[in-house]
Amino acid sequence: KRIVVLISGSGSNLQALIDAAEMGGINGHIVAVISNKPDVYGLTRAQNAKIPTEVVDHTAFDGRQAFEVELSNVINRYSPDLIVLAGFMRILNSEFVQPYEGKMLNIHPSLLPKYKGLHTHRRALENGDTEHGVSVHFVTSELDGGPVIAQRTVKVEKSDTEQSLQAKVQQQEHQLYPEVVARFCNDRLEYKDGKAYMDKKPL
Ligand code: GRF
Repeated sequence: KRIVVLISGSGSNLQALIDAAEMGGINGHIVAVISNKPDVYGLTRAQNAKIPTEVVDHTAFDGRQAFEVELSNVINRYSPDLIVLAGFMRILNSEFVQPYEGKMLNIHPSLLPKYKGLHTHRRALENGDTEHGVSVHFVTSELDGGPVIAQRTVKVEKSDTEQSLQAKVQQQEHQLYPEVVARFCNDRLEYKDGKAYMDKKPL
């Protein structure tokens, strides 16, 4: 399978995917890494792994639509079977998302449907949650609202800060995302009529 990864930052999830692919754990290749921000560390990670990189800088476009048109053009040039959002921090319109429905994944640092959007660790702490975690879901036009494929939980301790909680959750992210991508690449995951299936069973 041909995988395109979209990033906006440090790319630690990208690194986990690169490592898993290099170890033969994923039945596919990362054929490109695309960032909406120039100079982020994730691009260096890709270059170190000899993966082609592209920057589609959202600030260079007149509005979201123009940005998304160019982003799709660049993505489509690589004919991906799977598009993986890995810390990609732009909201995407339905016109952009629709053609990729069922083949675009996102990782979100909360136990969805809780805490869509930003500052998830802070919100979990503020609410006194004893459990928190991470979700991987198919991307639909609803922000962080597509069907959940898999989750990992972490325990929230009284001593946890936003930073310590984030670190714990990220550790889980780095295990979970390669696992889910591997399943997708083995044709075990499907998206149909707004629902996610694994091995033909609804999730
Ligand atoms: C991760 O915590 C991810 O869940 C969130 O953004 C962060 C990206 O981190 N959507 P990285 O760029 O993969 O290091």
